[in-house]
Amino acid sequence: MLKVVGAVMLVVLGCEPRPADDDVVDGDLLSDLPRFETQRAVLCARGRENAVTTALCGPQPSIASLVDLQQLLGIAFDDDDDVPGFSLLGHSSALPVRSVSAINPGVVIVSLPAHPPELNGRPGRLRDDGNTFSMAYARGDQLVEMAVRPPDGELAFYLLRYEQGCNDDVSCDAADLLTPQTESGWTRWSLYDDEDLGNSVLDCLQCHQPHGPGTPRIFRMQELENPWTHWMATFTIGGHVLLDDYFDVHGLQETFGGIPGALLPRTDPVSVEDLVRFDDDDQPNVFPAPFVEREVQNNNRAQPADNSTPGVSASWDLVYQAAVVGDAIPPPYHDVKITDFAKLASLTAAYGSWRSGETSALPDLRDVIDDDALAHMSLRPRPGLDGRGILVHMCAQCHNARLDQTLTRARFDALNLDNNDRAERLLAIDRLLLSQDDRFRMPPHFFRDLSPDEVEAAVAALRELD
Ligand code: HEC
Ligand code: HEC
Repeated sequence: MLKVVGAVMLVVLGCEPRPADDDVVDGDLLSDLPRFETQRAVLCARGRENAVTTALCGPQPSIASLVDLQQLLGIAFDDDDDVPGFSLLGHSSALPVRSVSAINPGVVIVSLPAHPPELNGRPGRLRDDGNTFSMAYARGDQLVEMAVRPPDGELAFYLLRYEQGCNDDVSCDAADLLTPQTESGWTRWSLYDDEDLGNSVLDCLQCHQPHGPGTPRIFRMQELENPWTHWMATFTIGGHVLLDDYFDVHGLQETFGGIPGALLPRTDPVSVEDLVRFDDDDQPNVFPAPFVEREVQNNNRAQPADNSTPGVSASWDLVYQAAVVGDAIPPPYHDVKITDFAKLASLTAAYGSWRSGETSALPDLRDVIDDDALAHMSLRPRPGLDGRGILVHMCAQCHNARLDQTLTRARFDALNLDNNDRAERLLAIDRLLLSQDDRFRMPPHFFRDLSPDEVEAAVAALRELD
């Protein structure tokens, strides 16, 4: 309890990075928010009306699995003849950026109301409540993301965080978090909306309302055009390569993201493109998928199946540069695969041993990302940046004048470093020097990492302004 009070004080007063007498590092990004039924009461009292509040407010629903949640929201895969539209993706530039890869894909399920047949794809199962709804899920973080627009209403964002039995034990291991085990056996859950999360690292609107308050809230898909790089499909070259890597690990039987294995080959990026087009959402800084894939392949014919030589693409450089200078959120990586060849092979074998019961321990499937990809996914700064450049690339996504200026977060501005007064710059230095697993560490490990040299360069750039 003391810890929570300390965290709230910090946010309000912007004082010490952490209360001095509290030497326990709090790594929970949401520890200052209420949980469970208390949080549900706060959220439901807001009175927003949409398919999510209809399903999850009212008498406490019993949700012990992902499938339970999908059933409540009308998107369960319980009828082979009437399947919701969905797509798997082998690399996400969203919240689960560290968790998602071909061997632990993200799943986006799309649920549209009845509409005229002007869209491109199979319509999938239609909703009868008029809402436009989507769920995004990836194993690893115990989070389920949802976005919903009620008829003529505002797009709202929801995050459901669940716990499993392992949360009450010492800790959750890779097998708890990265296998079918994490999709069921839920013991408790908390539901947050975009308002609850506004001043947290998991703020949805930093990306889903990129131009800030008063501007459109959008569904997102960065690779919006054919061949929808990183989105799995049997009918694109890249999508097929990713799907092969997925099936090598999980086989054809495993239910993934609530979707029975036999239905997974129906993964279809067009359903997500249709969601974005149906909602009429302009996408900023679009990843020009047809150009990037062509350029990468022209430079190296082994791509996309063999990414051991990282690709090169002038079209991609432009969208990446927009993120480096803080104009846009990071675009996805230029290559179809983000995985390191050797790590992919060893983790594929390890999952096989776990699946066959040969071993009960599983290595962390998320530890599969290729070194070249880390900086190009903006998990690390672009090589060669100076201290100021590092601060812009690593901080501006959340600290810029476009976003909500009433949040305490806005007191630090990464795009106008000279505008931060001395106290704010000192606070930024304190935050940069905290340990990586501290929830107050900047940049947050959830999205970014800096080497000790890069921290030093960023600190020096802030000190220089004195
Ligand atoms: C760092 C930017 C970022 C943040 C933060 C973020 N999203 Fe997203 N979101 C995306 C992108 C990009 C996509 C497209 C799919 C992908 O790349 O994984 C997406 C996809 C989604 C989808 C699937 C439907 C769609 O729009 O394509 C849902 C649902 C969603 N996000 C909900 C949320 C919620 C809820 C939060 C906050 C808890 C959130 N997102 C935070 C960037 C973000
Ligand atoms: C993914 C989003 C995100 C990124 C990236 C990020 N921050 Fe933050 N930052 C936040 C949030 C949310 C808060 C408010 C909550 C808190 O105080 O921890 C915050 C708070 C701060 C504060 C305290 C503001 C105040 O006066 O209370 C400073 C200073 C700061 N960040 C500096 C940085 C620096 C420096 C970087 C890059 C090296 C960075 N941040 C990157 C999300 C981010």
